[in-house]
Amino acid sequence: MTETDESGTDLSRGSFRLADAETQDTAKLAMILDVMAQRPAVQTLKAWALDQLAPADGETAVDVGSGTGEDVVRFAKLVGPSGRAIGVEPSAGFRAEAVRRAAEVSVEFVDGYAGALPFEAESVDVLRSERVLQHVADPAGAVQDMARVLRPGGRIALIDTDWSTAIVHPADPAVLQRMVDYFLVDSANPYSGRRLRGLLAGAGLEITGETAATWIETQEGARQGFVSMMHLTSLEAGIITRAEAEAFAQGIADAADRGAFHLSLTMYAVSARKRA
Ligand SMILES: C[S@@+](CC[C@H](N)C(=O)[O-])C[C@H]1O[C@@H](n2cnc3c(N)ncnc32)[C@H](O)[C@@H]1O
Repeated sequence: MTETDESGTDLSRGSFRLADAETQDTAKLAMILDVMAQRPAVQTLKAWALDQLAPADGETAVDVGSGTGEDVVRFAKLVGPSGRAIGVEPSAGFRAEAVRRAAEVSVEFVDGYAGALPFEAESVDVLRSERVLQHVADPAGAVQDMARVLRPGGRIALIDTDWSTAIVHPADPAVLQRMVDYFLVDSANPYSGRRLRGLLAGAGLEITGETAATWIETQEGARQGFVSMMHLTSLEAGIITRAEAEAFAQGIADAADRGAFHLSLTMYAVSARKRA
């Protein structure tokens, strides 16, 4: 049976994975991305990355795993009509949604994925990839390929979550630990955030900056989003019992009513350049 939250939204784990690109519910995932894009931590890191990358008029700028395409639109405004703003996205549903949203500017959305980018070597001036490597089984290979397509002097910025930084309160510690352990094991690259710097350095790139931002969930978030997804996914997988899931949800909801719910999660961003 598919689990739903209080609003009736299907909360079985919304998958951004490459393997699910053909079958995913793009409308639901786009809605999740839109909510995430409003969060201060996400906005802070998107702005930081754009500042580090500084795309200039006439340059070729690429976003790997471009989702709804909002960062490609930002690129397009900076590289102008003589440049190219390109989103690489394996999901046909996301590519269609991004094209629809970007009707006013000159952008391209191409089929492809991290690790086999559809570009010649040394053909890209600026490259970003946000919350994608956590879904990639071979992140080192993916970043090596990003370095391959960068021109000498080209800039790159990676942003990702490190899921071990998640703090949820209140919860029975043993039940929470089982849910977190399941979530970590079930993800391709859950500790992505801490690995970004080493992946860029390992690909021979020169690190130019790094920062972090902590996402603090609103009290409304106690009844939707990550918290609901985490306990309902664990319930579906048999990691926790229905009684434990209900006690967890009730405890979190009661805490939110008192203004005492806490969920935080830290995201990291690292920038680098290819030596000229
Ligand atoms: C969490 S979303 C982030 C989207 C966008 N970067 C943003 O910041 O809103 C992850 C995106 O990566 C895409 N994706 C998943 N696996 C990928 C892969 N191996 N290579 C490139 N993109 C991938 C998904 O289809 C989805 O659009």
